Amino acid sequence: MGQDKGYLLDNRQAEAGTRFDALAALFDASTFRHFETVGIDEGWRCWEVGAGGPSVAAWLSERVGPRGRVLATDIDVSWARAAATGGVEVLRHDVGRDAPPAGPFDLVHARLVLVHVAERDAALRGMVQALRPGGWLVVEDADPALQPLICPDEHGPEQELANRLRTGFRRLLRQRGADLSYGRRLPRLLREAGLTDVEADAYFPITSPACDVLETATVQQVRDQLVAEGLATDEEIERHLANIAAGRLDLATSPMISAWGRRPVGDGPQL
Ligand SMILES: C[S@@+](CC[C@H](N)C(=O)[O-])C[C@H]1O[C@@H](n2cnc3c(N)ncnc32)[C@H](O)[C@@H]1O
Repeated sequence: MGQDKGYLLDNRQAEAGTRFDALAALFDASTFRHFETVGIDEGWRCWEVGAGGPSVAAWLSERVGPRGRVLATDIDVSWARAAATGGVEVLRHDVGRDAPPAGPFDLVHARLVLVHVAERDAALRGMVQALRPGGWLVVEDADPALQPLICPDEHGPEQELANRLRTGFRRLLRQRGADLSYGRRLPRLLREAGLTDVEADAYFPITSPACDVLETATVQQVRDQLVAEGLATDEEIERHLANIAAGRLDLATSPMISAWGRRPVGDGPQL
């Protein structure tokens, strides 16, 4: 969680469900490709950290089958609970502060979580500790500092406004302790944590209807804070939302860096 007031995009707000659906539409295919790359198989035991919505845990559950195990954790499990019906265990857990849940796991995954967690070093250690020897860690995190524009093609005042509001949003995230250049560090951090066979890549959409949905929900969720901090006026926010609704913007996202590595075979002891 962040330093002062905690995680900025609180799951209790109504927009959170919309944001999770948009994140699933934008990033699930890439996430599942990485699971296939590390060899996800029937019977695997998986820990989905900071699950948010149900889509990733539900896919894992389907993939590992009845002999496998999927544990979905979050500081707020209200949206992940929808996956519980599919054989997914759901647990309230703070990855930065709580001891790792009982494992060991063949796969531990976190997407867009550690960037928000002030105790991210401890979180990463706990996730590595929860792996069986030979088990895989897949960590995916945005790197907004690598590509800061929500409208990479800034060709007019509407795109300029969008990018200015995005700068304000990043300032709010930083105030909550988010590390906005975390993604690029992941390969080194995974190696320093003792993992082998480390690889990483990056993906981000340049325009997509789901980007419009994500931006609308995100701006609605943080608009009061943008105004309170003097980072935007209500009029600018209304204008930006209208520009999105009119389909006048090609909205992108930050690059999503996906890094994966495995605990050395023969490493021990396990949890
Ligand atoms: C941006 S959302 C990403 C959700 C999901 N992983 C995805 O990619 O769609 C971040 C999630 O991390 C959770 N989170 C934030 N801080 C956390 C912490 N310290 N421990 C566990 N989960 C946390 C939030 O509650 C939220 O569900």
